Amino acid sequence: MGKIAVYPGSFDPVTNGHCDLVMRGLRLFDKVIVAIARNGTKDPLFTIEERLEMLNESFKDIPGVEVDAFDGLLVDYVVRREANAILRGLRAVSDFEYEFQMALMNRKLNRDVQTVFLMTGLRWIYISSSIIKEAARFGGETRGMVPDIVCEKLKEKFASLKPDA
Ligand code: PNS
Repeated sequence: MGKIAVYPGSFDPVTNGHCDLVMRGLRLFDKVIVAIARNGTKDPLFTIEERLEMLNESFKDIPGVEVDAFDGLLVDYVVRREANAILRGLRAVSDFEYEFQMALMNRKLNRDVQTVFLMTGLRWIYISSSIIKEAARFGGETRGMVPDIVCEKLKEKFASLKPDA
């Protein structure tokens, strides 16, 4: 069996930075499972189903990518999927503290699960799901920063959330 990485996250929504990281992951792993945490602590803009749809559309032509959602602890999901590692992206020093804490906690929870960090491509270094939502909320153009389907879904979502819609 080939090497498998689980790339977990909220993906609310998926950005070109996430897509870039998956492509980098595929250079090291035979399969990358992009996995949405169902019980994320944040208050999401998109439902799990909407996020799955956007991820599936974004990776539909990329062999070796599977899209899924999971409940409970990430390390348990990694074991269930017989994966070899957790894949996470690092953009800047500001990401490090949170990632460091999460990786060490995951290691404490299961010594056999390793976390692999890859650097996001430079052109995506300033992009996050949060800043994309912030721009889109006030009508900013996000094309070129997120997959096309995300661009459309953001417009639909914010139009539907308008009080007079
Ligand atoms: O994209 P995010 O929001 O930074 O991703 C965070 C995520 C989903 C990777 C993290 O919250 C997670 O793994 N949640 C599942 C529960 C868990 O195992 N937490 C980490 C150890 S306490």
